[in-house]
Amino acid sequence: MPTTVSRMRGFTDPEVQDNPFPYYRERFQQCPVWHEDDVDLYVIAGLSEAREALMDVDTFSSAPARKGATGSPVATAYVKALAERGWARATTLQRTDPPVHTRYRQILNRIFTPARVKQLTPLIDNITEDLIDRFADSGRCEFVADFALPLPGIFIAEQLGLDRSEYKTFRRWAEAMLCLANRPTMTMEEAMEEVEVELEAQHYLAAECERRRSQPTDDLLSLIVHAHGDDEPFNMHELQDLMHQLVTGGFETTTGALSAAMWLLATHPDQQQLLRDRPDLMSNFIEESLRIDSPVQGLWRSAKCPASVQGMDIPEGASVMVRFGAANHDPRVFDAPERFDITRDNARNHVAFGFGAHFCIGAALARQQMHSAFTALLDRFSHIELAEPLPVPAHDPSFFLRPLKVLPLRLEPAR
Ligand code: HEM
Repeated sequence: MPTTVSRMRGFTDPEVQDNPFPYYRERFQQCPVWHEDDVDLYVIAGLSEAREALMDVDTFSSAPARKGATGSPVATAYVKALAERGWARATTLQRTDPPVHTRYRQILNRIFTPARVKQLTPLIDNITEDLIDRFADSGRCEFVADFALPLPGIFIAEQLGLDRSEYKTFRRWAEAMLCLANRPTMTMEEAMEEVEVELEAQHYLAAECERRRSQPTDDLLSLIVHAHGDDEPFNMHELQDLMHQLVTGGFETTTGALSAAMWLLATHPDQQQLLRDRPDLMSNFIEESLRIDSPVQGLWRSAKCPASVQGMDIPEGASVMVRFGAANHDPRVFDAPERFDITRDNARNHVAFGFGAHFCIGAALARQQMHSAFTALLDRFSHIELAEPLPVPAHDPSFFLRPLKVLPLRLEPAR
């Protein structure tokens, strides 16, 4: 039975955000489901409970909750500016429930196929080698800025019709698109600055979508515009929301995955050597790093009706967070969950990409980016280690992501 742990610090605590794993461990000793009192949030943290909740779309809805950030005056002004001078957020894909979700997903599944990932792999390899060339001779890099941000950033930017040299513009657009989620304490003035940047992105994307309607190309943007086939085409509101999800869902997450996996390798020389000796462990290394340090620690649902999970009563209308990062440390499933072990036989059993209807549509693409990146990095450098200790805290504050601030590395070039 769940008990209230009154003096325990929760997700709003900067220390817990920087390193949530001791908190998960402590909570698991009580119950894998709990209530975060200060933010009135029900947390589902056990692996089997998380999977069940993610499958139960009749109880746990992905549609935006009635309360939350979108209700603040700053967020309201932001959305109003988008609506008046660009495109207000339509509700598509990730923020919908079946059967509306099913239609979007079926159409987009035509694009995000294993064959497409295979076709895109030479481009991913090319960006990877290009980025490594820029720092290889110096024997050092700041991995987040020099690699983990630009690899997925350049990749998505090019798929949206931008040139490789325009990566900085794209990065600024992505920051603006994410500001409501990442900067809940933004002032009105700051929000109005950000919305101008997002409006610039929206108008650029609208023009590129229209161009592709009449002149299809082979990038993801064009494929999304034409994915409807014989069905009703997506309108511009829907297209803008889908672009937004591609950028917010595919950029920071992949950056987080690359940074965390590199940090794990650099700080576990025995595992790094094992991976060099046994390249057949590459896929398991990727799964183990996604498990142990999941880039998306949790996402929101809202309870459509009263529910009970592990004895915890969740009232109708409650905000719920499925905590992927904690589920991936469930001690009932993962032996010594905080141990980084690239030979772990059930590493792939994680929910870092979610589960059920909303399972990450870009999972294969993200895995390929990690595979291309670490194959090339281990090939080009015979030893990788931290060049200096990480700052404290090491991560930027976030309720649900784990953005590593910097990762300074010393790299021994391979002869
Ligand atoms: C390591 C990198 C990534 C991680 C950890 C990750 C994680 C996730 C998670 C946990 C979900 C489930 C959301 C939910 O249940 O509400 C999700 C969904 C989604 N992801 Fe990813 N993701 C990654 C990469 C990508 C990439 C590269 C793309 C696109 C190119 C992408 C696009 C999406 C989209 C559009 C959804 C919504 C799918 C739906 O609702 O049907 N993600 N992702």
